[in-house]
Amino acid sequence: MEQYILSLDQGTTSSRAIVFDKKGSIVSIAQKEFKQYFPKSGWVEHDPEEIWSTQAGVAAEATVKHGLNGKNIAAIGITNQRETVVVWDRNTSKPVYNAIVWQDKRTADYCESLKEEGKGKMIREKTGLVIDSYFSASKVKWILDNVEGARERAEAGDLVLGTIDTWIIWKFTKGELHVTDVTNACRTQLFNINTMDWDDDLLQLFDIPESMLPQVKDSSEVYGNSKTTVFASKIPIAGIAGDQMAALFGQMCTKKGMVKNTYGTGCFMLMNIGDKPIISEHNLLTTVAWRIKGKTVYALEGSIFIGGAVVQWLRDGLGIIKRSRDVEPLGESVDSTEGVYFIPAFAGLGAPYWNQKAKGVIFGMTRGTTDAHIARASIESIAYQTMDILTSMQADSGLQIKELRVDGGASVNDTLMQFQADILDSVTIRPKITETTALGAAYLAGLAVGFWESEEQIGEMWQEEKRFEPEEDRSKVTEGIKGWYRAIKALEYWTT
Ligand code: G3P
Repeated sequence: MEQYILSLDQGTTSSRAIVFDKKGSIVSIAQKEFKQYFPKSGWVEHDPEEIWSTQAGVAAEATVKHGLNGKNIAAIGITNQRETVVVWDRNTSKPVYNAIVWQDKRTADYCESLKEEGKGKMIREKTGLVIDSYFSASKVKWILDNVEGARERAEAGDLVLGTIDTWIIWKFTKGELHVTDVTNACRTQLFNINTMDWDDDLLQLFDIPESMLPQVKDSSEVYGNSKTTVFASKIPIAGIAGDQMAALFGQMCTKKGMVKNTYGTGCFMLMNIGDKPIISEHNLLTTVAWRIKGKTVYALEGSIFIGGAVVQWLRDGLGIIKRSRDVEPLGESVDSTEGVYFIPAFAGLGAPYWNQKAKGVIFGMTRGTTDAHIARASIESIAYQTMDILTSMQADSGLQIKELRVDGGASVNDTLMQFQADILDSVTIRPKITETTALGAAYLAGLAVGFWESEEQIGEMWQEEKRFEPEEDRSKVTEGIKGWYRAIKALEYWTT
């Protein structure tokens, strides 16, 4: 019977399932969006039961759609939105509160107070992360402090916690497995990336009982079998990784110095830094990329808040394009921005500037400026922000980047990719399969069950679709970059 890998990609706005064949090609996809809850300004929640029901639904749909059943699935790989956290009762499997999503800012003041107490250095050294409401620890603390009876139940050992991978596996195995992998654990802010274990000092600081924690596993191993929850047959669950790390693996960035950038609403850029963590001196995060057969690989990570979302703004806010894809022909209708720079800091500036007060600005307009120049400047802003992160990565790691592997919605934009290659002065490569997140989780699961033999074998299957070589005149590029830095300086001056 023909065998496949089922990859489950539980994202922030939708649950997806993709079936991959032995060649690493997609044979079937199913996707379902679910509801976002915004109970107060800055709060973002998901219903954990809906996360599970949509994920289980698409898993079955993707399989059946291609005429397959559980017996055709050699293993399941799971990848997920990171940091989002659920607390539930280990006896009833009932969540005590909604999942608090990574974007949720309710614990921002508490995190500020930790910074004021001078905890930043200790947390950075242990976890590789900055203190921020983004990560799970302060969210769990909030649940224990604010949901009636939660702290008592947690202290009595009745409550457990988990990132979304943990919750899905718990549901898949009817509570038999309470596990996570190193990539998800390291985004909780409770995990020490040097000892690769939960950290007592951090548990104490955030006041979280140790009994709530899942067991931490490799990213590629057989954790156990699914019960007959979705499929009639039991299927090994054999790969777990947070979505950005899964994408790094799906891009086969398995050697030190290799970098991927996902051009989504925002952009997430990760660089493989090998088997030792480097604590960033340029405001990047240090994170675990994966652990396979006990060997840990680390990554530096930088995120851009507004990437592809700038195109949505051109469409919905400014109204100069009807559909997102119209940005490319409009931007291409002029040869350059004629000195126009757009910094789309609608949500402040992320790495490496971390300027919360920054707002969006357009510089350098004249009477001759048209919608086409602004469209072009917005495309370029995505590439310039990417360049800023890459520059920090090179400075932190001492490694020279030779190529950038790209994926995500905006990576289909050839103008953007060419401009990216020009300003980085490095090759930009778009793979054949841009579903790299799901692909990475599939690779991890497939490796664990022998569906694929080795990383080398997978590396040979991985194919590029298009390669963008730097071709623009260097002095012109350097002038353009200087203008970007002037614009950033001006924005910084304006926000102080
Ligand atoms: O850190 C958050 C990230 O993992 C979310 O990814 O693709 O679900 O928006 P995505």
